[in-house]
Amino acid sequence: MCGIVGYLGSRQAYDILIQGLHRLEYRGYDSAGAALVNAEGSLNVYKAKGKVSNLEQSAAGKDTTGTLGIAHTRWATHGEPNDVNAHPQISQTHSIALVHNGTIENYNVLKKALIQHGYTFESETDTEVLVQLIEYIKLTGGCSLLDAIIEALHQVEGAYAIAVVEENDPDTMIVARKSSPLVIGVGDDETFIASDATPIVGFTDRVVYLRDNEIAVIKRNEPLRIISLENNKPSKIDIQTLKLSVAQLEKGGYDTFMLKEIFEQPATLRDCIRGRIVDDCNRIVLSGVEIHRDRFLNARRIVLVACGTSWHAALIGKRLIQEMCRIPVEVEYASEFRYGNPVLDKQDIVISISQSGETADTLAAIQLAREKGAFVYGICNVVGASIPRNTDSGTYIHVGPEIGVASTKAFTGQVTVLTLLALSIGQLRGTVVPETVHEIASALMEMPKTIEKVLKLDGEIQKLSRTFTYAHNFLYLGRGYNYPTALEGALKLKEISYIHAEGYPAAEMKHGPIALIDHEMPSVIIAPSDSLYDKIINNVQQVKSRGGSVIAIVSKGNRAMAEMADYTLEIPDVPECLTPIVASIPLQLLAYYIAINKGKNVDQPRNLAKSVTVE
Ligand code: AGP
Repeated sequence: MCGIVGYLGSRQAYDILIQGLHRLEYRGYDSAGAALVNAEGSLNVYKAKGKVSNLEQSAAGKDTTGTLGIAHTRWATHGEPNDVNAHPQISQTHSIALVHNGTIENYNVLKKALIQHGYTFESETDTEVLVQLIEYIKLTGGCSLLDAIIEALHQVEGAYAIAVVEENDPDTMIVARKSSPLVIGVGDDETFIASDATPIVGFTDRVVYLRDNEIAVIKRNEPLRIISLENNKPSKIDIQTLKLSVAQLEKGGYDTFMLKEIFEQPATLRDCIRGRIVDDCNRIVLSGVEIHRDRFLNARRIVLVACGTSWHAALIGKRLIQEMCRIPVEVEYASEFRYGNPVLDKQDIVISISQSGETADTLAAIQLAREKGAFVYGICNVVGASIPRNTDSGTYIHVGPEIGVASTKAFTGQVTVLTLLALSIGQLRGTVVPETVHEIASALMEMPKTIEKVLKLDGEIQKLSRTFTYAHNFLYLGRGYNYPTALEGALKLKEISYIHAEGYPAAEMKHGPIALIDHEMPSVIIAPSDSLYDKIINNVQQVKSRGGSVIAIVSKGNRAMAEMADYTLEIPDVPECLTPIVASIPLQLLAYYIAINKGKNVDQPRNLAKSVTVE
């Protein structure tokens, strides 16, 4: 949540900052702002409520010169979205500007103390407290900006990635992080900083991921310096090569990122399985498991932790692992797990699932799990993010940048990796027969083509969506492997169309939600021809007999359901455990077109942000 970007070099900073903010807008779009220090040392600050385009309009025609600048796109936590609460926040004498991603938990205590020292506050943000504190320390202690920031960071509790610039110093930018991400791009005589690598792509492929409790001093014509906030000693600078291209960050001819990402799934799943299915589909190789085979051989229990869509993938993972590995598996919301005093020991494996690798609750959950001695495995998309850097081992899903706030290709990538993981642990423990490995691995190899077939439903779904655009409520029902698919389908609809939708295990419907069903409440029923198909038929009839309309996702050639349901969408036959991958795609498209029919911004739905780095 919140994106920060900064530049120091020989080019004009403003355009670079604006382009960076556009790429970071998925992290929040409540307001945007930029601070520039020009050659004379003047500090110019521009802020606007709403999207980055509003900032561009409000700064048009004003002095945006300067080769040093910082900027911010906000997802509001403290204080409503408005110009005053927008970042950069400025110190009382208007000499220091700061952008912040995270939350300062003890801001109230610090604020009271600063008020006693004569400070006044304009905004309701926690961030203003930090910038005022830095100025107070600097002025009263007569110290440098760097020393004042270090001292202030020792006083604050919470999470932060910050970038700071100062009036009269067009040559220095200082950045620091604790629990919120920050990447430094090292160019030739220029330096970029950002919440993730997307604003840096196209300028340099040399990046440094700042570690927790580190502060970096970026000075014109001087090498980058990183200092540990724990012992004030210089930290090792580990320059890595970025493997992202500008093309991956663009819409590629699609109207929206979400649609592009839905249609990318044949390719992303190909990337996801590449090199992991070997020996003519008879063996799965996940290096993260191979290196730690003893851990998996001796595991007594697996706990999957995640949030949102990733939690839905975890529910599918539970079934997969239990079935193929015969290990007890629990699934926890990361936010509940971290405060539940979990009982864990060395024979437990905690698997975190996260697209962004920055979700605050998931990160905290795995840190707790490690403290308690569990072995932590991460399934992540964003390479080099905080979660993979805080795990003992793991697997990337490799589906490329997911920009649309609603997760689509990351979900199918997560389920694919969980399938590979279950098979690979099952092979190791001898709990899965070779025929099953071969059958599922072969179907996974075919999955890109299978998904291409499912995507041909696009036109049909677009047409169908018109019938349901004005429904106020939806029920999504599924059983077994597809109960989580129902949850995911409902979440997709809710987050982008703002229609209330509930996902439910189909058989549970009669224990309550059935009371809601009438002719105005459509039910989407995921009913492939699997081991529970005969059971779900009863649920379809229960909905129909109460006047509800049914959209059924069925296996190809299922004519019986066509007679019962109002609409059927046919998907190719795949092994039962892979049906969530295939069935989720029509649900993504249905939510997409309903939201588009309603004129909603599917890539940036209201109140949401792609990366939830606050509690
Ligand atoms: C999904 O469409 C979401 N917008 C959201 O639920 C997301 O899955 C959740 O915030 C977890 O994010 P992560 O996978 O990056 O940890």
